[in-house]
Amino acid sequence: MQIRLRNLKRNYASLHAVDDVSLDIPSNTVYGIIGRSGAGKSTLVRLVSMLEKPDQGEVYYDDRRVDNLSKEELIQERRKIGMIFQNFNLFSSRNAEDNIAYPMEICHMDKAYIKKRTAELLALVGLEGRGNAPISTLSGGQKQRVAIARALAVKPEILFCDEATSALDPQTTRAILSLIKEIQKKMNLTVVMITHQMEVVRDACDRVAVLDSGHIVEEGPVSDIFASPKSDVTKDFLSSLTNVHESIVRWSNDGGHFTLRFRGGATDEPIISTVSARTGAVFNIRAAGVQTVNGEELGVMITDIGPDASIAAEAVKLLSGMGVLVEEAE
Ligand SMILES: Nc1ncnc2c1ncn2[C@@H]1O[C@H](COP(=O)(O)OP(=O)(O)OP(=O)(O)O)[C@@H](O)[C@H]1O
Ligand SMILES: [Mg+2]
Repeated sequence: MQIRLRNLKRNYASLHAVDDVSLDIPSNTVYGIIGRSGAGKSTLVRLVSMLEKPDQGEVYYDDRRVDNLSKEELIQERRKIGMIFQNFNLFSSRNAEDNIAYPMEICHMDKAYIKKRTAELLALVGLEGRGNAPISTLSGGQKQRVAIARALAVKPEILFCDEATSALDPQTTRAILSLIKEIQKKMNLTVVMITHQMEVVRDACDRVAVLDSGHIVEEGPVSDIFASPKSDVTKDFLSSLTNVHESIVRWSNDGGHFTLRFRGGATDEPIISTVSARTGAVFNIRAAGVQTVNGEELGVMITDIGPDASIAAEAVKLLSGMGVLVEEAE
């Protein structure tokens, strides 16, 4: 199912938590929304999932407007939505199986069907045979698997994940993200992934929107955003990724006036040597690496360029002509 947002606004007193957001979230995809704490991500999700009404603007699921529905229509339309959260929100008094059964019980589904569907869902999330496990005995990753199974119980068309992996370690995060991607394909879901981690966007999403102070500051395919980020917020997110990610090696924390971004074929070519030979520029490389984003190889190099500003400018010009995106620190 496709989701369209038109000029959405939500204020809390004088605070514009969501401020004129328009987005097209295609069907059958994993769509990321990234932003700092307080950017308005959760508020936006509450508007899109019809848990809260916008002060202005419209929400469409395919061609149906859903932000102004009556109570009965709302209940009907909400069945199309599954949600998972950072803190899992499971019932600790129920075991895994009974948590998954809960939304089906609410819909008064047949007992035998519930039993069969629960077993199917446990298998889908890799918890076959663990239905009797009390929630307190499960690890964080397993709890999130139960939450995913519960969210999918009544066959939604949209899955919202609000910081679903923020409480998990990196390895478990990767496992849960690949599970979500696999399920997305299997069930043709529209997955909306809310996060403050660029790793999540890189490892799971097809497209991403960057939210800052209630506004969308950038939107596009993930590999485009990684290869040529435009807003300062996006660059900040990417630089925190370069510092922590294992594929980028940093030799020195000093300097690094220029950030070079290489895309596709450019990662295979001796670009630095060529530029150095042609201009006489000297590169003092501070950090570099290649990462795979959505199946595409993207290179990043953080470097100083010498010996003087005019040669550096010439080198930058040549690099840009060769398809390398160059950002210069202030
Ligand atoms: N019910 C509310 N009443 C008043 N202010 C609110 C309410 N909900 C959110 N806000 C404010 O709106 C802004 C956006 O909050 P929101 O929870 O959407 O941010 P977020 O991007 O999800 O942040 P985080 O990453 O910390 O979860 C914040 O300044 C928050 O304090
Ligand atoms: Mg939030």
